[in-house]
Amino acid sequence: MLNSLNVLHIYSGNLFGGVERMLISLATLDASQSSPHFALCFEGRLSYALQEADAPVTFLGPVRFRNPLSVLRARRELARLLRARKFDAVVCHSIWIYCIFASPVARAGHAPILYLHDIPDPKNTFYRWAWRRPPALCIVNSKATAAPLEQLRPPVRVRIVHPLVNPPPPIDPTAIQQLRAQWGVRFEEIVILQASRFDPWKGHRNLLQALGTMRDVPGWRCWIAGAPQRPHEETYRRELGRMIESLGIAERVSFIGHRDDMDTTLAACDVYCQPNETPEPFGMVFVEAMYAGKPVVGRALGGAVEIVTTECGILCPADAGALTAALRRLLEDGQLRKQMSEVGPARAALLSGPEQFSKHFRAALESVRA
Ligand code: GLC
Repeated sequence: MLNSLNVLHIYSGNLFGGVERMLISLATLDASQSSPHFALCFEGRLSYALQEADAPVTFLGPVRFRNPLSVLRARRELARLLRARKFDAVVCHSIWIYCIFASPVARAGHAPILYLHDIPDPKNTFYRWAWRRPPALCIVNSKATAAPLEQLRPPVRVRIVHPLVNPPPPIDPTAIQQLRAQWGVRFEEIVILQASRFDPWKGHRNLLQALGTMRDVPGWRCWIAGAPQRPHEETYRRELGRMIESLGIAERVSFIGHRDDMDTTLAACDVYCQPNETPEPFGMVFVEAMYAGKPVVGRALGGAVEIVTTECGILCPADAGALTAALRRLLEDGQLRKQMSEVGPARAALLSGPEQFSKHFRAALESVRA
């Protein structure tokens, strides 16, 4: 049994989403459990947050597939790091990071490990290419992510490790009141929150459509959190704005922007809703909402099915009527909201809490060493 695991995590670092958030949580894990080191291709929000948490970060340099020289340079940087420091395991997060870095990892005598956060498309060239040097272990964030791997040859060792999500710190009740007041929410109003990237598959349109049919139902408000990161996300956000206008719900739906106070935002809402269009690989935000004691409404798809039980939320089939019915039920039934909010935190910890994560992650890594 290893003591503190000395793991190198390799990732890109130029965007910001679930993987980035999990890596930041890893940096704050109890030092007796792990002492992670991070190797990133890009400087940005992720690297700043890691450095702020005093985690060691090595830059490999910006990699562009179209620029073979940038790939060579980054591989050389990684090889240098692997010579300079001893790691118990080296984990490549995402298939393209694996494609770029599996060879220097293997050359340095490490078993290449892939942590997949996206549902793989086995026909995608990246996967076919990666499987020419198959990972010694493929860690996946859910069953949904694991399933398509069966189509790839050769078969590889797969372990499900739900991503780490730290429990929230205690939230100051006045901060909650202030946030609600800032957005003009009355005490008795029910706030339905969606917090995600502005990607069409995150299902904002399904939520808005359902709210449109609840235009005459009093007592609800909706917050849409997040900020577009790429041009197509900006276009999509504008489309949502027009949709809100034409549904006649502009007074009740607010774009509350990117949140640095996500814990407070979750605490300040009453229901978390994210009706994805297509299967989400995992969906850390569902876990975060459950930690915050909020009932979760979503589609019965992908990771959500493994996360949300009927005790802590409502997962719907793909019809607008079902989503409206779920939202109305939660809006009208305070007792149900209360029951769900009591179950959420323990379920969240069981899925993704630090203890669970450390146990499963360690066991997965040790399965390679065995
Ligand atoms: C990716 C997935 C998301 C998952 C996260 C952590 O961002 O899209 O579903 O929660 O990785 O594994």
